[in-house]
Amino acid sequence: MSRTIIVSNRLPTKAQRTEEGLHFTPSEGGLATGLGSIYRADGNVWVGWPGVEIDDPAEQQFVTEELRHDSMAPVFLTQDEIRDYYEGFSNEVLWPTFHYFSQHAVYEQAYWESYVTVNRKFCQAVLALAGPDDTIWVHDYQLLLLPQMLRQERPEASIGFFLHIPFPSHELIRVLPWRRELLEGMLGADLLGFHTYGYMRHFLSSAAQLLGYPNQNGLIEVGQRSVLVDAFPMGIDYDKYAQVAESEEAREAELLYRDALNDSRVILSIDRLDYTKGIAERLRAYELMLQRYPEWRGRVTLLMLVVPSRDQVEKYRALKVEIDELVGRINADYRTISWTPIQYFYRSFPLEHLSGLYRLAEVALVTPMRDGMNLVAKEFVASKGELPGVLILSERAGAARELSDALIINPTDTLQLAEAMHEALVMPEEEQLLRMSNMQALVSTYNVYHWVRLFMDRLAYIKIKQQTLATD
Ligand code: G6P
Repeated sequence: MSRTIIVSNRLPTKAQRTEEGLHFTPSEGGLATGLGSIYRADGNVWVGWPGVEIDDPAEQQFVTEELRHDSMAPVFLTQDEIRDYYEGFSNEVLWPTFHYFSQHAVYEQAYWESYVTVNRKFCQAVLALAGPDDTIWVHDYQLLLLPQMLRQERPEASIGFFLHIPFPSHELIRVLPWRRELLEGMLGADLLGFHTYGYMRHFLSSAAQLLGYPNQNGLIEVGQRSVLVDAFPMGIDYDKYAQVAESEEAREAELLYRDALNDSRVILSIDRLDYTKGIAERLRAYELMLQRYPEWRGRVTLLMLVVPSRDQVEKYRALKVEIDELVGRINADYRTISWTPIQYFYRSFPLEHLSGLYRLAEVALVTPMRDGMNLVAKEFVASKGELPGVLILSERAGAARELSDALIINPTDTLQLAEAMHEALVMPEEEQLLRMSNMQALVSTYNVYHWVRLFMDRLAYIKIKQQTLATD
């Protein structure tokens, strides 16, 4: 029987060290939450890093056993690899460059060398597991070299690759000293998937301008092989979010927060800590809204959840300080004895609580500077059920290509964002419900199952097409 081997840097489950020993919890981020509910079918396996340094062979054995029950196979990273491959090349070179923050990139040769070494390590782990008929599906920017490494070992294998972050203009890619190797690495796949047509076009123009590979309708000839490039906007497990939102736990959580906030109107913001998410800009816009519309003081609360992320990377630490200071200052300037303008939490929340907050919020702010897709926007929509609510969405999130019934804003335009918050708070309920149900129709149809099916069908199609092209 053929299976799918899913490969990503981070597994959907992470191991954490506590005083009682190793402990397992769900991972954060769009990739893990998005794919987490579907990979278990048909004997599939997920290969990836369990998120913590584990050197002791006995502990490695224990973690391997625990994860095996849940169809996962761990790849262990050393301390140096975590520093140079994960924090270094992945998150200080590729992440900022692909999100148009090139000025944050740190071009260290040692980072690159570690990136190559760890991609090889993943290659070995996959080869040890994958049978000749298995499909290999590689995910995201941490593993751009892996498709080509696998191709060299298994010329006939079905290999798909999906990028969960934006693919930027070739003007940014050309800045990377290792641009050729990275693009060639990706082209080892049979099918390359991106969230939007824009990202797909950027990739095709990088392949043409920097490698000299033209394309015809998204097909690129690489030696004797055809590689297909296409757009697949990722969806969520809609029914799961809709059902949890109806659960008793979610309703209890909603009531708990509603009471604690004295029935104030709620604007919700949920992100991983990241400079791409526009968190500081959002806070400034909220302050501007309070200045321009003083009638909202005492009547609205910004509920801001920031999930800790990559806290060993310098830029993330600096951002944490900036946000802490900004929240402290705005709260100090505007608070009254009975009202706190911003309720700020720096931690992750269980799904039922998130769901309660989605139900509670009149407005959700999803205003990143750049974001591959942004699944929080879709989770908010799925959790609303019959309830009204307004989504304010950045035009630079992939989701804006689909969710045109949101209030679409430019996140650097502070005034526009402040005005959109006011507009959302006064929008007639009828209009809210209409916009919401339009978005629900779309998010429920183009869900994560649909996304997987579409990707797998296209991968099967290109394999057949390659055979006919070879025999022509
Ligand atoms: C984004 C990336 C994922 C990543 C997630 C969390 O969604 O596309 O690949 O797993 O962020 O980041 P982390 O560095 O904690 O894995």
